[in-house]
Amino acid sequence: MRTRETWGTRAGFIMAAAGSAIGLGNIWRFPGEAYQFGGGAFLLPYLVAILTAGLPLLLLEYTIGRRHRGGPPAAFRRLAGPAEGIGWWQTAVAFFLATFYAVIIAWALNYAWFSASLAWGEDAAAFFGEDFLGVSEDPLRFGHYRPGILAALVAVWALVLLIMSGGIRRGVELANKICIPLLVVLFGAIVVRALTLDGAAAGLDAFFTPQWGRIGEVEIWLAAYGQVFFSLSIGMGTMITYASYLRRGAELSNTALTVGLSNASFELLAGIGVFAVLGFMSARSGTAIGDLVEVGGGVAFVTFPTVLAQMPGGALVGVLFFSSLVIAGITSIVSMVIVPLASVEDRLGWSRRRTLALIGVPMALFSILVYPAANGSHMLDAVDFAVSGYGLILCGLATIVAAFTAGRLPALAAEANRTSVFRIGRAWYACLALTGAVLAWTVAANLLDQGRNLYGEDGELDPLILVNWVVGGVSIAFGAVMGFVMRRRPLPAEPRGEPALDLD
Ligand code: PHE
Repeated sequence: MRTRETWGTRAGFIMAAAGSAIGLGNIWRFPGEAYQFGGGAFLLPYLVAILTAGLPLLLLEYTIGRRHRGGPPAAFRRLAGPAEGIGWWQTAVAFFLATFYAVIIAWALNYAWFSASLAWGEDAAAFFGEDFLGVSEDPLRFGHYRPGILAALVAVWALVLLIMSGGIRRGVELANKICIPLLVVLFGAIVVRALTLDGAAAGLDAFFTPQWGRIGEVEIWLAAYGQVFFSLSIGMGTMITYASYLRRGAELSNTALTVGLSNASFELLAGIGVFAVLGFMSARSGTAIGDLVEVGGGVAFVTFPTVLAQMPGGALVGVLFFSSLVIAGITSIVSMVIVPLASVEDRLGWSRRRTLALIGVPMALFSILVYPAANGSHMLDAVDFAVSGYGLILCGLATIVAAFTAGRLPALAAEANRTSVFRIGRAWYACLALTGAVLAWTVAANLLDQGRNLYGEDGELDPLILVNWVVGGVSIAFGAVMGFVMRRRPLPAEPRGEPALDLD
């Protein structure tokens, strides 16, 4: 019987899972969200979201993966026959996420290079929008490819496919073992430099001072849950896939806790670094910190470069900062690309070589064709929201509902408890129910909001909301069709053996 490759060591798995979690979401998304939603007051909902949604769902995905040993379609099929379509849906979401995430890594790669000469000059915003992205007016007009982005994107995909071709131990695990320590050192150095800048304390004040008056706003709670979801890489089958390469006796609960805490610490560290820098900038320019912060790409690619140009040693800090974005991004994108590859390997019995050629390469080509064009950043925003505003959340909800309606939650709890340090009990069920409700609410709120803004002021249909819905619809349709087509096709034999040599 076929044996399934496993992680070489426990530390290897933890590093890979943390590497997946720690990504662009920590460095460029978290600080902006935290600031926008009430500074220090955001930390409380954020903490509650980690405890009630993050850790319980992480554990659910680990358990499904370790128990049912396969990429999401095979794992869901074994969990509850008709749920297979959820796994294919996740595969589609992973496809879309990976294809645009690669482009942000490619931007960061360009900026690591620009940093050496502080190439953006006086006006970092104009440089980013006009010179670098060359953003087009019409969001749906493709063309005018940007050569710098294109070249970096090809390099990113070449590296990702190379890592994937090494399999688990010699590919994913090795890459994480190199990248994670490197990331900690680089990022640590940046934070230390940031904290020694004049004005850093005022920045930290802005970051940590709670605006308690806002704690009752539903929006803040939804944002906190959304951030935790994206940041811990849950909802998309990534953790099901990674855990499917665990040995049957591997510990789960402590592992989830370790990964969750490392991710949160890194997130806080990023917030501290970014806000110390903003404090410096505010002291220099006399502008209030609140007016410096832009949401989304703005913080990393506009605000930060502006500060670097004024900071002693800015070129070096810039190289370090953008390199750490690249490194954090690579270990995350690997965990997205593995979802479609493992899905097909485990459900159809294809070899890694074949999935790389027939799925990995077309995925890279899609990414390379769509995003380096002049309308690429518009597309990126639309697809980003399709994934983080709907895809991950709905798939996470579907996972909970499927496990519950198939009556498999008690069996999964027993499976987790078989090897875990902390035993899970009633609180786990309660958390999953609460999380399900929050997720449903989030989707409803997003839909309502978009529905209201569907037609712009000029009465025209907003093309980006349209792209957003098409991408979401295609993902769901793909899941449904594949679930239907595969319903009679038997699963390949479940791999039972463990490799003869195991290191721990
Ligand atoms: N957690 C990653 C980040 O913070 C993003 C991610 C989401 C990765 C979902 C895999 C799956 O950037």
